[in-house]
Amino acid sequence: MSTPRTVAVILAGGIGVRVGLGIPKQLIKIAGKAIVEHTLEVVNASPVIDEIIIVMNAGAIEQLEPLKDQERFPKLTRIIPGGDTRNDSTQAALAALGDDPDTKVLFHDAVRPFVDDRILAECVEALDHYEAVDTAIPSADTIVQVDSASHITGIPNRSTLRRGQTPQGFRLGTIRRAYELAGLDKTFHATDDCGVVFTYLPETPIFVVDGTAQNMKVTEPIDVHIADKLFQLQSASLTADAPLPDFEGKVVVVFGGSYGIGESIVDLAEHAGATVHEFSRSTTGTDVRSRKQVKEALKQAHEASGRIDAVVMSAGVLRMGPLTQTKVKHIESSIETNFTAPVIVARAAHKYLKETGGQVLLFTSSSHTRGRANYGIYSASKAAVVNLTQALAEEWAEDGVQINCINPQRTRTPMRIQAFGDEPEGSLLAPEKVAAVSLQVLDSGLTGQIVAVRVEEAAQGAS
Ligand code: CTP
Repeated sequence: MSTPRTVAVILAGGIGVRVGLGIPKQLIKIAGKAIVEHTLEVVNASPVIDEIIIVMNAGAIEQLEPLKDQERFPKLTRIIPGGDTRNDSTQAALAALGDDPDTKVLFHDAVRPFVDDRILAECVEALDHYEAVDTAIPSADTIVQVDSASHITGIPNRSTLRRGQTPQGFRLGTIRRAYELAGLDKTFHATDDCGVVFTYLPETPIFVVDGTAQNMKVTEPIDVHIADKLFQLQSASLTADAPLPDFEGKVVVVFGGSYGIGESIVDLAEHAGATVHEFSRSTTGTDVRSRKQVKEALKQAHEASGRIDAVVMSAGVLRMGPLTQTKVKHIESSIETNFTAPVIVARAAHKYLKETGGQVLLFTSSSHTRGRANYGIYSASKAAVVNLTQALAEEWAEDGVQINCINPQRTRTPMRIQAFGDEPEGSLLAPEKVAAVSLQVLDSGLTGQIVAVRVEEAAQGAS
């Protein structure tokens, strides 16, 4: 018997009324890409999936045109219009699938971008033994049943309850038969596909694969924020211990590369095989606050090496002291070095990176999430750098230019020692670790990410 084909159907036919952002929620951009694109990336990369069909909200279907890219998504064969309800969208997909009743078909919500290889593989595998499979997780909350007057009518035993997710998988013949029977029922109502099999083919066992908490559905406004954080966590799994990527043939420009993290990046990138051009005030007399000097530096690197694949901006200043006692010229210079300079560097680098599909790498500080007394200008400028990274990732997605931001915890750099004095050994990150993660990010397909680098076994204290 030949192995049946496995088709994944990504359901993106909804509007996302509950998120309420005025665009179909599957098109909301998180970490530089539409949610549906993240989902497509995961499904396309799964070795168990042969073909992908997207069912898209008819009113916005043209917005998925850019995804019809054979090189990026070779498994995506069709994008078809969805129906009024989720079940109508499923049926639109069923109508578009071939005749073989043995085909394995997985339906997956476009707005669950954190599905993973393990879940997809287990669903497909379960279809060797079952006609229908669901994905679900235990419920942390007690589920109560209520009537229309909001009175509890039942409290089912939590240990037997699961929260349904997707994918939901079926043999094509089975799901088609279930929908045929549902079509004869005038009272038909369901919110998922397993429910249709459960109701209309009650003798069909439905196996449940373990989902994950991350495989959440972006449904309410708060989910957009949670999803954003989850993408950040995903990128944080890049570690300093991973093998050094190969930078042979790549050209890296580092601003602020004469000491601290910048210096470590220069060393490590060279070690990885890159040609590195380093610019700083002390070595080349380059002032990152000067648009002219930054442009000149990039031009020089490009002329010398013929290309630029990455531009790292690691220059920064940290001056301690209460605002009212800080000289205005020092305030201005702090904002210029910590914020205006990344803007200048990113802007000037764009045209070179567009040629290579390259990346800008900026640096923030863990103080960006909450301003700290006595270095508010620094932490506020670093918060602005994060915001800039996210904005430019969206602006540059079409050009294929990536931009990310490293968020190192307190790092043993001359800048830090000058500001905070001696701190306990082991409570500070080695700049080499930050450089190692920076190279991982430069080697990744990430964009719009704020990648945290933490002190292992972190000691106590402010960062
Ligand atoms: N879906 C679909 N066709 C529909 C309705 C929903 O393909 N007519 C898809 C959604 O795009 C989503 C998934 O089914 O990926 C889960 O549905 P849900 O979260 O209910 O999405 P929406 O219907 O878009 O959300 P809302 O109910 O808030 O409008």
